[in-house]
Amino acid sequence: MASLLGHRKFALSCILLSLIFVDRLLAFAVTGATGGVDSTTGARPLRYEIGQYSASGPPFDLLILSLIAFQSANQSDPLSYFQISGIHGFPRIPWDGVVGTGSYPGFCTHAATPFPTWHRPYMALFEQVLWMHAQDIAATFPSDQRSEYQNAALSLRVPYWDWAINPALPDVVTQTQLSINTPNGRATVDNPLYSYVFQSDAAGNGFPSSDPMANFAETVRWWSTSAQASNQTAANAALMANAPTILSLTYQLFTTVTNYTYFSCTWPGGQGGVPNNIEAIHNSIHNSVGGYGHMQFPEVAGFDPVFWLHHANVDRLFAMWQALYPDSFIVPTVNAYGSYYEAVGFVDSGTSALAPFHSDDSGTMFTSEAVRSIKSFGYSYPELPDWEMSSSQLAAHVRSAVNSLYNPISNTTVAHLRRNVQHRSANLADSFGGVTLDMARQMNVNNLDRQWSIAVSVDRFALETSFAIDFFIGDAPGDAPAWATAKNLIGTYAQFSPANATFLHPDGYPAGQVHGEISMTHTLAAGVLRGVIRDLSPQSVVPLLRKGLIWKARTASGLEVPLSDLSGLSISVFSRPVVPTTSRDRFPTYGAVQWQESVTAGKTCGGRQPRAPG
Ligand SMILES: *[C@@H]1O[C@H](CO)[C@@H](O)[C@H](O)[C@H]1NC(C)=O
Ligand SMILES: *[C@@H]1O[C@H](CO)[C@@H](O)[C@H](O)[C@H]1NC(C)=O
Ligand SMILES: *[C@@H]1O[C@H](CO)[C@@H](O)[C@H](O)[C@H]1NC(C)=O
Ligand SMILES: *[C@@H]1O[C@H](CO)[C@@H](O)[C@H](O)[C@H]1NC(C)=O
Ligand SMILES: *[C@@H]1O[C@H](CO)[C@@H](O)[C@H](O)[C@H]1NC(C)=O
Repeated sequence: MASLLGHRKFALSCILLSLIFVDRLLAFAVTGATGGVDSTTGARPLRYEIGQYSASGPPFDLLILSLIAFQSANQSDPLSYFQISGIHGFPRIPWDGVVGTGSYPGFCTHAATPFPTWHRPYMALFEQVLWMHAQDIAATFPSDQRSEYQNAALSLRVPYWDWAINPALPDVVTQTQLSINTPNGRATVDNPLYSYVFQSDAAGNGFPSSDPMANFAETVRWWSTSAQASNQTAANAALMANAPTILSLTYQLFTTVTNYTYFSCTWPGGQGGVPNNIEAIHNSIHNSVGGYGHMQFPEVAGFDPVFWLHHANVDRLFAMWQALYPDSFIVPTVNAYGSYYEAVGFVDSGTSALAPFHSDDSGTMFTSEAVRSIKSFGYSYPELPDWEMSSSQLAAHVRSAVNSLYNPISNTTVAHLRRNVQHRSANLADSFGGVTLDMARQMNVNNLDRQWSIAVSVDRFALETSFAIDFFIGDAPGDAPAWATAKNLIGTYAQFSPANATFLHPDGYPAGQVHGEISMTHTLAAGVLRGVIRDLSPQSVVPLLRKGLIWKARTASGLEVPLSDLSGLSISVFSRPVVPTTSRDRFPTYGAVQWQESVTAGKTCGGRQPRAPG
């Protein structure tokens, strides 16, 4: 074993050499981190939640040391953190010999049906290289610690951040320095989860100066121009303000979205469908974490180290969803927006290449079909012990985990919460606002007898830059920068668009719409709890929303955008009756979607019912 590990560094160097000098003779085979798999049971090492993982001692020490080594690799190396992060966006260069011609700078597919599948081998590649560094580093620990670190290294996987139940940046992501055990003893190190420090300037990085994010020396979150620093307090406030809606949307992704096409991002519109999808939820987290910062913009988001914890969670939710709906998968769908590799109008199917990820060294590229299962990549998640269960047992296991995590049923039922209707406060923010995640959970927000949502449809490139639409009950605060964290915020719809879309699409934006959903059951349930409205029925809620539901749009840097500037914007409201679940083993039963057209009628960009696309 020792000699095997001793050869890792040599192996890594050989791979680098092959990428650089052998050129097209050998491709880099993405295998994921394959070590640590139990050959008897088939059990694969888990990706753990970061909160738990950060208290794990040696595994966490190794994660940090490996990430430092990864980030230190020269940006000219194809397996450097810079180049692997850069696959997602800038710099607009080939990777592993795969050349693109599309206008978007990165290989990633967004607002397109391979969104969940493309990011799976991407994560596996990142995990594989991180794992290689871990083997080298573990071998350098003093002999009395070495075997413990080498064991930890074999099962090292990327942790995930479950933002639906932990809606704040993980502590170990926010600190600029960390104290860990290293081969030379306890040491304080610059935290590689806090930021990535670029090794060069914009020109050296290959970033175009027209991109407003090009000139940062390191990745930032909610950049404060006055402080010339990241403001992570603002990121946490935005995450917390959106926590109840994220909790509900995450839960309903499992309970109401049964078709892969809709799950991934592409919504059919019309009476029966709902626009909730994994990509829109994911966009919201990019927005809340990034503010005016790298995570907000897809062309640079991959550089912020928290990107990998976020996408591990996206992959986890996808894998859990697959366990529930194993028969639904990708069907051919037009990619209306393209990528660096795919031209606008390309038809994505299960057999389309997930560029630039090769499955072998002769240059075969992965397809969505080839990454349908996580088994071949050597990892799993706590909710998915698939090696010891049949597929129906696994589905039952996941259903119960989803209920425990995202639909915690407290003893307080809505019936207990109901109070006599008191005098309405004139202040809607006091009556309905200030709903924390804890309060949403105590109100059983995902298990009430009716569910309320806002549906958003808007052009993918509705504006030159990324933007967000904030929904309020009652008037919005006067200043746009205060909207993201307003007490009476219901939730934020976030577009995940480049900082400068005009630069990327000088000949005009590709046409097409994206869709998302905001849950407002928590806001309304708080009104019931406080005795301001009688119940969640349309009779009680519709008059309130007609008067009180307000929306405003802003850019990532906090400038108000007139709603009329957002092309194709249409806002609708729907509700549906729900039969709550009384069992961990079952989901609630949802009745037909009822569009509440009178709520939005006559308001700017208020739609009656979203149009079907096309
Ligand atoms: C990275 O490698 C290039 C090419 O060998 C070299 O010019 C550059 O100085 C190196 N950068 C760093 C930060 O070591
Ligand atoms: C950081 O954000 C918080 C919360 O939004 C805000 O109160 C504070 O003024 C901001 N600080 C700076 C330096 O911008
Ligand atoms: C999902 O819905 C789309 C649009 O109606 C349809 O084309 C597709 O066949 C469905 N996919 C599955 C796996 O049922
Ligand atoms: C809920 O009720 C059960 C039985 O009445 C009790 O045992 C349990 O402690 C209660 N849980 C909470 C969180 O109050
Ligand atoms: C976007 O890029 C164009 C060049 O293509 C430049 O003229 C414009 O100022 C840029 N806009 C922003 C907001 O950076």
